[in-house]
Amino acid sequence: MPASFHTRDMIAVVNQKGGVGKTTLAVHIAVWHFEQGHRVAFIDADGQSSSSRWIKTAGWPITLFTETRPDPIIEIAKDLRATHDVIVADGPGNLAESTRALLLMADFALVPCGVTVPELESTAEMIRMIKNARLVRAGASPQASVVLTRVRNDRFVLTREAHEAAGLLGLPVCANVLRLREATADSPGQRTVVWNMGRKATVAAKEMNQLLEEIDKYARKKTDNIAGSDRRAESLSTERLAIPRVVNA
Ligand SMILES: Nc1ncnc2c1ncn2[C@@H]1O[C@H](COP(=O)(O)OP(=O)(O)OP(=O)(O)O)[C@@H](O)[C@H]1O
Ligand SMILES: [Mg+2]
Repeated sequence: MPASFHTRDMIAVVNQKGGVGKTTLAVHIAVWHFEQGHRVAFIDADGQSSSSRWIKTAGWPITLFTETRPDPIIEIAKDLRATHDVIVADGPGNLAESTRALLLMADFALVPCGVTVPELESTAEMIRMIKNARLVRAGASPQASVVLTRVRNDRFVLTREAHEAAGLLGLPVCANVLRLREATADSPGQRTVVWNMGRKATVAAKEMNQLLEEIDKYARKKTDNIAGSDRRAESLSTERLAIPRVVNA
């Protein structure tokens, strides 16, 4: 186990918007940690059970709980901290109370988000929930970052704008993004992760690794990422992307 890694961290991957890549990211984070020798637990809080099926059929040694009720989620998360190094949670694709429960327990919240305007707009609601969880917890937990996902290669300009627009929502944005990749889309069907898919997945694997290393770095430092991202975003026009400034810090 890397000596620098802070154990007993809980990472929740949340967004009420469906199909943004929560399950894909959550499962990759979990496998990445167990391959480094950590004891990993996974809470599948989404009634569709897609991450549970993926983990079970792949046979990874990950302690798996499928639980959508908020109170059991809180209790399970508390118990798992005593026995596991890393807890990863996959949130549901709607604004369920289970998401709120995850945010009350998590150290880090990752918010995958596509780069379309509707996705960024609906993510504002998610960010509000994260900020309210911080209020309830009377502190800065959970730390949180937006992860831009399913980014099309041919939309560099929009991507850059979306990156900055996401910053306007009041959360830092991971510098590394997950582009729309065939290998990533195939990984659940093949019951594996992109870095175990061979040559055809080299680019997807590199991209995923860079993102996970970035997330891990923030987790270890326990600081917000991309210092100044909000400041940078201040100079941009929200109207251009019609992103409402709905979240007050
Ligand atoms: N980077 C990517 N490149 C290509 N396809 C992707 C990528 N990320 C996710 N997908 C695919 O997009 C679809 C939605 O992803 P995923 O299931 O991870 O989203 P989700 O947010 O968990 O959805 P839900 O809200 O329904 O639980 C899946 O078919 C997945 O394989
Ligand atoms: Mg999912």
